[in-house]
Amino acid sequence: MKVARRVEKLPPYLFVEISRKIAEKKAKGEEVISFGIGDPDIPTPPHIISRLCQAAQDPVNHRYPESDGLPELRRAIADWYQKRFGVAFNPDTEVLPLIGAKEGIAHIAFCLIDPGDTALVPDPGYPVYSIGTMLAGGRPYYLALNEKNSYLPDLRSIPQHIARSARLLWLNYPNNPTGAVAELDFFQRAVEFARQYGIAVCHDGPYTEVAFDGYQPVSFMQAEGAREVGVEFHSLSKSYNMTGWRIGMVVGNPVMIDALKRLKSNLDSGIPQAIQYAAIEALSGPQDCIPEHNALYQRRRDLMVEGLNKIGLQAGLPKASLYVWARVPEGYTSVEFTTDLLEQVGVVVTPGTGYGRHGEGYTRLSLTIPDVSLVKGLSKLAGWRNKKLATSLKFS
Ligand SMILES: Cc1ncc(COP(=O)(O)O)c(C=O)c1O
Repeated sequence: MKVARRVEKLPPYLFVEISRKIAEKKAKGEEVISFGIGDPDIPTPPHIISRLCQAAQDPVNHRYPESDGLPELRRAIADWYQKRFGVAFNPDTEVLPLIGAKEGIAHIAFCLIDPGDTALVPDPGYPVYSIGTMLAGGRPYYLALNEKNSYLPDLRSIPQHIARSARLLWLNYPNNPTGAVAELDFFQRAVEFARQYGIAVCHDGPYTEVAFDGYQPVSFMQAEGAREVGVEFHSLSKSYNMTGWRIGMVVGNPVMIDALKRLKSNLDSGIPQAIQYAAIEALSGPQDCIPEHNALYQRRRDLMVEGLNKIGLQAGLPKASLYVWARVPEGYTSVEFTTDLLEQVGVVVTPGTGYGRHGEGYTRLSLTIPDVSLVKGLSKLAGWRNKKLATSLKFS
């Protein structure tokens, strides 16, 4: 069977490869501790599950859902944005529920990118921004994120001919994989840039609710004029530990929302309604779970950053997101380091280059790991370092 070139050219999705390697090790009876994927280990709060179970019993919810979601869900999303960020959206024209943010992120490329078009994509960045662009026949132009620019793309350094030909700018704060955050002044500059060059902005913000030390991330949609140029993707995955239920949303520019709605109505048949009711409960019900989860992640963050710095893997203290971005030891590439760690001590971390070439020299560790495993994983990491020191191999 010959598959289409667009699929042939696709690299395997980063975490599919990592899961395969973990399964191989486990099949040999070896213990593996994973700091890999950002998939909350804490269950979905019980009041949300109760609503899901109740809705699943109702035969009305056994039938095809509408592809643009229940009006009650669109309203709950608009209300949540109003409460959390003070931004008002029309639930009928400026809100669209998604089968997880990933689905919408991939599909919006087909709404904005024609073959040969350019999308501005952060590097390192969540891989779906560039993959969606390429599947739509477009070309990503990578914007370097690094320590020097505080992991915020320098929009002024984009060559004029690229800015003029670009159709779409991807942004993501709090950032995966670096844990960096952006403030309103940066988003305001992005809006000005988009206006100047007639570029659409897609901001991806699934981590706005995962933040530490009392910090409150802002939304791109709070920037003045954001709605004229762009949309924001969001998700219930990380805020309410709902990765497995597959539900997210996009809000903002009505033309972009309408285009995605049209595309999706031809491709999928919406989100199972019981899950939509669970989402309404999550967004409108008690919100205590958010500070509770953040306290837990913050404790893990502190443990992890301290542990990593102690063994010489320099790591900054992220204000938000589920990730710690650390330097790999000198003498190793990101992939060499992550491969060696898995082989020698059965610890999974993600190579920075899995998110783009500017991720070289870094590794990402996720905080979604139970405390016991986190401590054990850090001690295995320390063991790995001591072994390297003892054999005076590459570690410095
Ligand atoms: C930056 C970013 N955007 C989107 C997603 C996907 O979210 P969802 O589970 O809603 O598809 C993730 C998941 O890890 C992510 O890190």
